[in-house]
Amino acid sequence: MDVNSLIESATAVRLLAYAPYSRFSVGAALLTTDGRVFCGCNVENLSFGLTLCAERSALVAAIAEGCLTFSALAIVADTDAPISPCGACRQVLAEFSPALQIISANLKGQTETFSLADLLPRAKTGILNNP
Ligand code: THU
Repeated sequence: MDVNSLIESATAVRLLAYAPYSRFSVGAALLTTDGRVFCGCNVENLSFGLTLCAERSALVAAIAEGCLTFSALAIVADTDAPISPCGACRQVLAEFSPALQIISANLKGQTETFSLADLLPRAKTGILNNP
């Protein structure tokens, strides 16, 4: 699975986002270390705080299929510059793959690549006595 295909998957699932409140649709495609792809989109709620981001939506789909290790995540949104995952998603992704490669793309085809380790250093340090 190459990066462009992963971006294509995220672009396709973005169209399924349920975002009637923000009107901001996001798609995510998560590649497992054994080559499977799980997709997710954001799912909003009238009680705004219950909104689920695309990144966590893809992650929970993978976990429910027994996949726990990931090598890359593509995210796609219609923005001037590529977006990056929110703090909550960074922490939840880091639970499984602290050095995940994240490729963010907009609809103009611009991309930016991050390491989750750079976006969220010390993700597990100091929590539950974890050194
Ligand atoms: N959102 C995502 O799904 N992923 C991100 O990386 C940024 C934000 C969603 C949450 C909400 O439904 C909408 O975008 C506006 O914040």
